Amino acid sequence: MLMKDEGPECTAAGEYPADEFISHGRDVEMRWDSVDGWQHTPNDRFFVRNHTSTPRIDLAAYRLRMFGDGLAGAPTIEDAHTFTLDEIRDMGSVTHTYALECTGNGRRFFATQQDTHRAGTQWGLGAIGVAKWGGVSLTDLLSRVGVLDDAVDVMGEGLDEPYLHDGVDHGRVRRPVPIGKALDDVLVAYEMNGEPLPPDHGYPLRLVVPGWVGIASIKWLGSIHVSKQPLSSPWTTVFYRIEDEEGSTVLTEMPVKSAFELAWETSLEVGVPGVLRGRSWSGTGAIERVEVSTDGGENWTVPELFGPNEPKTWVRWELPWTPTEPGRYELLARASDTEGRTQPDSVAPNDDGYLFWAVVRHPVDVV
Ligand code: MTE
Repeated sequence: MLMKDEGPECTAAGEYPADEFISHGRDVEMRWDSVDGWQHTPNDRFFVRNHTSTPRIDLAAYRLRMFGDGLAGAPTIEDAHTFTLDEIRDMGSVTHTYALECTGNGRRFFATQQDTHRAGTQWGLGAIGVAKWGGVSLTDLLSRVGVLDDAVDVMGEGLDEPYLHDGVDHGRVRRPVPIGKALDDVLVAYEMNGEPLPPDHGYPLRLVVPGWVGIASIKWLGSIHVSKQPLSSPWTTVFYRIEDEEGSTVLTEMPVKSAFELAWETSLEVGVPGVLRGRSWSGTGAIERVEVSTDGGENWTVPELFGPNEPKTWVRWELPWTPTEPGRYELLARASDTEGRTQPDSVAPNDDGYLFWAVVRHPVDVV
């Protein structure tokens, strides 16, 4: 499986306190109960998902290389167009708010809710963050290097160490994006919430592929290959795809999901008025509707949505609730997006435990 837990070399570089993060070895998950009124996830609260470890990049030597027969003159990797970070920054700056979410976010609920355990990092719902990404649009960058009309795929590659798994060297982390998506809304980001990208989040440059599986947003971007032929990598042929009776699908867009800003199995006091807070998000549309149940799904109430509600990010919501009887409760939140998708009660399991988007049953004790 891809997301088997860590080896000693597989680490994030930052500090991740236990009251803010759940550790999964090399990866760290944001605790939903540490979410504190912010719209954008602060950089030091953002989940980290590394295949190997965070590389140290020497900015003086750093160059982004762009090559391939999808560019005018068909430069090879040896005579690629090269850009320093300053040259990229000098191209200007666009800023957009987007969610970034791991494809396996929610994997543990395959086991706990559906009795279909899937190997890999047992994420709860905290492998998501929302940031204001600043950088240049990939469209701008591609037009500067003369992208051809018949280019079909664009593949970013990271500068982290090659990924070794089950004795196979898969090479550096890389994944193609079709030209249509590349020219739509993809960013080459150098800022996260107004700061240079932190080392664990891709310094000095990363792709941000809005609404798509997190693996598409290549960190520590070293090169961009533009091709007139379809490109592939182990991250499309082996990992991040689903094989089922309907066939074999390379994963692209993220589904619609919801989470409560509450600790798992937290205690609430009987008779004390409280407010249930949470967020819902979708990889394609904005959020159209959220429903919350405090009785395991018998009855549903519509919470108040507030703050921005844009596609490919999250919307916040809250619902006053005064539990009247002591006992064990299951809180449920179910969202629908503007693309007409509603979170189901369960999802068909897939081998690698990707895209768990069913309604999560969040236990709390009322005492
Ligand atoms: N890019 C490189 N070069 N190496 C990686 O290991 N992990 C991917 C993606 N980009 C990865 C990468 C995965 S699986 C995810 S979910 C996101 O980065 C996580 O981004 P974050 O660590 O900034 O939250």
